[in-house]
Amino acid sequence: MNEEIKLIADQIKKKIGGIKPEIALILGSGLGGLADMIENPVVIPYSEIEGLPRSTVSGHAGRMVIGKLGGKDVLCLQGRVHLYEGHAPSKIALLVRTLKEVGAKTLFLTNAAGSLRKDLPPGSLMLISDHINYAGLNPLIGPNDENIGPRFPDMSQAYSPELRAKVIEAAEKEGVSLKEGIYIMTSGPNFETPAEINMFARLGADAVGMSTVPETLVGVHCGMKVVGVSVITNYGAGMTAGALTHGETIEQADKAAKKLERVIARFIAEK
Ligand code: HPA
Repeated sequence: MNEEIKLIADQIKKKIGGIKPEIALILGSGLGGLADMIENPVVIPYSEIEGLPRSTVSGHAGRMVIGKLGGKDVLCLQGRVHLYEGHAPSKIALLVRTLKEVGAKTLFLTNAAGSLRKDLPPGSLMLISDHINYAGLNPLIGPNDENIGPRFPDMSQAYSPELRAKVIEAAEKEGVSLKEGIYIMTSGPNFETPAEINMFARLGADAVGMSTVPETLVGVHCGMKVVGVSVITNYGAGMTAGALTHGETIEQADKAAKKLERVIARFIAEK
């Protein structure tokens, strides 16, 4: 496994020369715009890197963009890989560990999510305070490499309190409203039934989505500081009349993404 990480990381390092991105960002559905703010970007399509999984969802470009944002070297994954695409959980582990090997100490996760709370309407931003893994899968299952992290990693502060405070501060300075809440992950790819949405709300979750949790688990396991923000694109199924579509998700994400981009740029500049 270690060899595999090194093989992929070496290909990336070769392409970015001496750049050592300290912050890695994974951009969710419709959130790719942040990568366009990067100065003098080096763009690497996943297809140019042997050993990397490919993203197949519309709204997810499938490339790395590396360069300066807010005066810091960052690496953006524009287009993530999801479990529902059929990727083995170990592939997600490989990707996140590669980010660490390339130099990232901080992992900033973004996603599009459905709201489970009436006072968290579409277009809101939710800082993830904690998560519930309801996907039935875990990328850390399998033999553990103690050189990467412990067998039984602690998740009592999976989302770094220190970085969360900095994101809150950045949002305040940008005049952007930011709520906090718990993210629950399902495997997808179907949207939830109204009964499931009702159950998730009762379980204590505030937003539901199909990503992020695997990356957090792997990031924390290998010692990265993790922080995450959900863009609320819709109310959960059954909370309003009408069916859910991926098109609606992209549209709402576009609007709120602009706000989130400002918050992230400020967070990075002041970090
Ligand atoms: N459910 C699951 N994932 C999502 C949703 C949803 O309602 N909206 C955006 N991603």
